[in-house]
Amino acid sequence: MPDESRGFLGTTLPKSKIELSGLAATLLVRPETCAPGVHPANPALRPRDPQPSEMLIFTSPMPSNPTPEPISADLGARSGLDAVNGGSRFLRACLRKPVDRTPVWFLRQAGRYMPEYMAVRRHHTLLEICKRPQLAAEVTITAAEKLDVDAAIIFADLLLPLPTMGLDFEFQAGEGPVVHKPLRTPEDIQRLRSDRAGELSYVAEAIDLVVTHFKDRIGIIGFIGSPFTLASYMIEGGGSRNYVHTKTLMYRQPAAWHMLLEKLVVVLREYAAQQVAAGADVIQIFDSWAGALSVADYRDFVLPITRTLVREVQALGVPVIYFGVDTASLLPAMRETGADVLGLDWRTPLNEAWRKLDYSCAVQGNLDPITLFADPELIRDRVRQILTEAGGRPGHIFNLGHGIVPGTPVEHVQQVVRFVREFVPAGGTLG
Ligand code: CP3
Repeated sequence: MPDESRGFLGTTLPKSKIELSGLAATLLVRPETCAPGVHPANPALRPRDPQPSEMLIFTSPMPSNPTPEPISADLGARSGLDAVNGGSRFLRACLRKPVDRTPVWFLRQAGRYMPEYMAVRRHHTLLEICKRPQLAAEVTITAAEKLDVDAAIIFADLLLPLPTMGLDFEFQAGEGPVVHKPLRTPEDIQRLRSDRAGELSYVAEAIDLVVTHFKDRIGIIGFIGSPFTLASYMIEGGGSRNYVHTKTLMYRQPAAWHMLLEKLVVVLREYAAQQVAAGADVIQIFDSWAGALSVADYRDFVLPITRTLVREVQALGVPVIYFGVDTASLLPAMRETGADVLGLDWRTPLNEAWRKLDYSCAVQGNLDPITLFADPELIRDRVRQILTEAGGRPGHIFNLGHGIVPGTPVEHVQQVVRFVREFVPAGGTLG
C-alpha cells in the first residue's frame, strides 16, 4: 500500500488548514450580499491569505443587455492587481494584464500518459484518487512540477456532483463514465436533490493542500462542469454521438429542462464556492459537448442559464475560464456568458477566433493535442504559429485545444513548455 502522507516529490503534504466540515450549510448564502472576494458566509474563509498585490476585488461585468462590454480599462480596479508586478503570470493573463511571458498549462495534464499517475492508478480507482485529498493533491502537484507549468488544475472529475443529486455512475474500462439510471422523464428530474453539494468538500480539501504546496508560485485552477454538458451526461447516461435524448427533452419538455439546469446551477455554484474558499484562483467551466448544439439552440436553451452560473462564480471573486470543443460557430454566443477567458479548440486558427470575439476577452489554447505525437521540429512550428497569431497581446494562455491523450510522449509536453518560454514575439515584449 502506498503511504498517502508522502508525495511523489518526497515531501510530506501538510494537513488541511481550513476546517471544511459544515461549510456546505454556510455556502447557501447568496454572494451578492458581501464584498467581492470575501467568502459570502464567513469572511474568515477568504480563499488564500491575500498578498497586498493579489487582493482580488473582482466584480464581474453584468451588462443588462446581452451584448458583452469589452473588458478593458477597469480591469485593474476589478482585480485589484498591481498593474506591473502583482499576481501570478497565469492569473494576470486571465485578466488581460501584461505578463513577462505567455503562461502555459495543459488540459488533462495529470492523466494516463504520465507514468507517475499510472503508478497511483495501479493501486487506486479514479474515484478513489478524486475522493482522497492527499492522493488528488499529490497527482495534481506531481504533474504541475514535472511539466513546470504556470497553473495546476485540481485532480477531480466533471461528474462528481452527480451522486450528490441522486444519480450514481461508474467508470467502465474503455467506455468512460456510465450513469446507472439516466434521466428520461420530468419526474426523474423532479426527484433530483440540489442540497448535498457539501458532500464534495474533499475536492476543496485537495485544493487546500495544493495551495499550501505552491503558495503563489503558480495559478491554482478549480473546475466544474457546465449545466449543458452535465445535463447531457445525466440524460444520455454516458458519451453520445447525436444527443438524441438530451435534445428531445430540451425541445419537448422545456420546463423540465430548465428545472434540471436550475438544479445543476444551485449545486455547481456551491461546489465552486467551496473550491474558491479553499484557494482556487480561477474556476474553469467545462462545456465539453457544447459543440453539439446549433447557435440557435445554444442561445435558446443553454446561454441564459450558463450566463447566470458564470456571474455567480465571478461573484465569488475569481475569473472564469469557459471551455468547449468544436465551438467555432458558438464563440460569439459563448462570449455573452461574460466569461473572462474562452477556451479555444484547434479547429479555428487562434487569431481568427480571437478576432471573432473582438479581442473582448482573454483566450486559452489552442494546439491540437495530437500534434504532441509529431517530431519536436513540427511541434515547435505549431507552437510558434499559435504564439505568433496571439501577437503578444495581453490575455493569451497557451494550452491545448482539448486534453492530452494516453500514449502522448511526456518529453514532448515538456518541450512545449520550453518552446513557449523561449518565444519572443516580433516587435518586443508581451503586453
Ligand atoms: O489534469 C487533469 O485535467 C485531470 C483532471 C480531470 C479529470 N477529468 C480526471 C480524469 C479533469 C479536468 C476532468 C474533466 C472531465 N471529465 C471532462 C471535461 C474535460 C474534457 O475532456 O472535455 C469530462 C468530459 C469528464 C468525464 C470523463 N472522465 C470522461 C469522458 C472520461 C473518460 C475519458 C478517457 O480519457 O477515458 C473520464 C475519465 C478521467 N477523468 C480520466 C482522468 C485522468 C482518465 C481515466 C482514468 O484515469 O482511468
